[in-house]
Amino acid sequence: MGLFSKDIKTMDDLFVHTLRDIYYAEKRILKALPTMVEKASDPELKAAFRAHLAETEGHVKRVEEVFRMHGAEAKTVTCPAIDGIIDESEEIAGEVADKEVLDAALAAAAQAVEHYEMTRYGTLIAWAKRLGRADCAAVLQRNLDEEKAADRKLTGIAESKLNIRAAE
Ligand SMILES: [Fe+2]
Ligand SMILES: [Fe+2]
Repeated sequence: MGLFSKDIKTMDDLFVHTLRDIYYAEKRILKALPTMVEKASDPELKAAFRAHLAETEGHVKRVEEVFRMHGAEAKTVTCPAIDGIIDESEEIAGEVADKEVLDAALAAAAQAVEHYEMTRYGTLIAWAKRLGRADCAAVLQRNLDEEKAADRKLTGIAESKLNIRAAE
């Protein structure tokens, strides 16, 4: 999207642009998750990150499938929002000395990522349906369901132990 040329003219252009945004985000998350697996101390948190890493590989593939179905070129557009969320989480993680406080920080950072993904997929699904692409919406819904489940799992781990230990 250029500064002087308005490249997004239609709802369909907007849908494809946003698909490229989440494609960029998923790829960025794929690169960030192994470090989070490494930094987490709690075995359950580590396992949750590892499981979501595997799911994220599937998310990238499903987004590519939607590009194919919709006849749009699979390419990324830089998403400063996810860059900011991940940069901030890495910065905070680098400043936390205590392992238990770090686990709470990592879970919170991951949930910020999940919520970003949830807002994007929610919008993409609504737009796909509006554009008559219920087929694309169904594929995107599978990603959204996994983001929501990952978020719920992290809430459970954080509230049942990470936050309690971090506050002790
Ligand atoms: Fe994802
Ligand atoms: Fe995710």
